[in-house]
Amino acid sequence: MWSCGGVRGETVEDFIERVLITEEEIRQRVRELGEAISRDYAGKELRVVGVLRGAFIFMADLVRNIRVPLSVDFMSISSYGDECETSGVVRILKDLDKPITGRHVLIVEDIVDTGLTLRHLKEVLSTRGPASLKVCALLSKPERRLVQDLTIDYLGFEIPNCFVVGYGLDYAERYRNYPFIFVLKPDYYHDAQREGKGQCG
Ligand code: PRP
Repeated sequence: MWSCGGVRGETVEDFIERVLITEEEIRQRVRELGEAISRDYAGKELRVVGVLRGAFIFMADLVRNIRVPLSVDFMSISSYGDECETSGVVRILKDLDKPITGRHVLIVEDIVDTGLTLRHLKEVLSTRGPASLKVCALLSKPERRLVQDLTIDYLGFEIPNCFVVGYGLDYAERYRNYPFIFVLKPDYYHDAQREGKGQCG
């Protein structure tokens, strides 16, 4: 279990409170996830569905560690609600390009926070007749969960309720490009008037 206190890793950027998950830790865990997925789907073909935008870096690394035949597709969604909190009602901005009927579908998310987005997404995709529907998420914040019965089939890291960015996760569209996951200093997100949701933005 990660802790909110202490400094991990060497950092130079002023806005970094501390590095929560290093590049090497991510690389190792993504490799393990890829191996588990490859084992579980042996003999099958996968359709990997990335949820834009936060998952794009994780998904790019994940698929390079999966050893079964696969194709990729993407959805872009927007949650109704205020700028920091999802309401659970998801508006599809970009739908999948290909049907998923009869396909083994793996949804790839960067973070599961309240779980409302993922629950809605699973509901939407399950109506389209996939052969199977599973989820791979890099991060989960169990303290924030509002949906209790949500299954994350493959999970990278459970994290505490810190304001995390990097490796695809943003605040106001910034910081996605950092190759590690870090806690943003409060001074840099005070204008959001809300703490605790790393992907707010
Ligand atoms: C994030 C994340 C999930 C969702 C999780 O997306 O990628 O889709 O929020 O939150 P929830 O569990 O509380 O529903 P965001 O809306 O920040 O968009 P982004 O992926 O473009 O950063």
